[in-house]
Amino acid sequence: TPLPTAETPLPTAELHLHIEGTLEPELAFALAARNGVRLPYADTEALRRAYRFEDLQSFLDLYYELMGVLHTVQDFEDLADAYLARAAAQGVRHAEIFFDPQAHTARGVPIGTVIEGLGRALDRSEERHGVSTRLIMCFLRDESAESALATLEAATPYLHRLTGVGLDSAEVGHPPAKFAEVYAAAGALGLRKVAHAGEEGPPAYITEALDVLGVERIDHGLRAMEDPALVDRLVRDRVPLTLCPLSNVRLRAVAELADHPLPAMLAAGLLVTVNSDDPAYFGGYAGDNYDAVREALRLAPEQLRELAANSFRAAFLEDDEERRTR
Ligand code: ADE
Ligand code: ZN
Repeated sequence: TPLPTAETPLPTAELHLHIEGTLEPELAFALAARNGVRLPYADTEALRRAYRFEDLQSFLDLYYELMGVLHTVQDFEDLADAYLARAAAQGVRHAEIFFDPQAHTARGVPIGTVIEGLGRALDRSEERHGVSTRLIMCFLRDESAESALATLEAATPYLHRLTGVGLDSAEVGHPPAKFAEVYAAAGALGLRKVAHAGEEGPPAYITEALDVLGVERIDHGLRAMEDPALVDRLVRDRVPLTLCPLSNVRLRAVAELADHPLPAMLAAGLLVTVNSDDPAYFGGYAGDNYDAVREALRLAPEQLRELAANSFRAAFLEDDEERRTR
């Protein structure tokens, strides 16, 4: 089969995507105007110039500040619908979408507003964009374990909308074991489990996320390569890793894309996938990430096809759904 071109991108599943990280400057200003929020940037160009990050924390500071424009059900619906349209145009057929309820409830936005708004966009996604969806609720690891438990409790009226739970925000100093109780409770409710680990934090956090939280997928997992025994385990147990190459460059987890361990990870037999993380901030959506690694890492067509196949294998799809999506 011929290689997909820009007009017919490779069909993929996106498994690591923060919906708040899809807030483009234009939509941020539009929502600010709609809600009477003042942004401390003159215009979209000035805002874009602020997108220079030293590390994860310097990004998170802007990410949390900008979400202050999100207030109503309509805002969250518009945000998610805009993402789904862009993702579809880049070949995404299935999207498992993270959201950060605590970043909104802390500002006085009820969790129901967030889930209802996202849910409205997701309900229409297959029909409008040809993208099937799942919703994964993330706990902020730099907040307390009690706050995570209260968030799970607050989400119980909306459980039917959630497929799983995740763990994100500032990693170093916030090891997975801090959230053992809330992950056990989420598992008892029938929710799937993933967690960010090994983005800036050590490989030991990946091991802990598997052993203590019982996660099925690792988000990032970039630093797994520092621990050969862990790599063996991830290969043996077919644990998917949701890599985000452009994010890693922008947040300086890797010096440049040509240095990314993706080819070594594929060669080691790891079930790696390519994703966009926070595309509005990191310079590209899913297809842009595939294009960037193809060029910088000189990936062969069969490696690109393996990455795309991995994305569907690692998704929380039923077998019959997976056949239809591909
Ligand atoms: N929240 C949004 N993007 C994130 C990332 N790459 N790592 C941790 N938390 C995040
Ligand atoms: Zn992430």
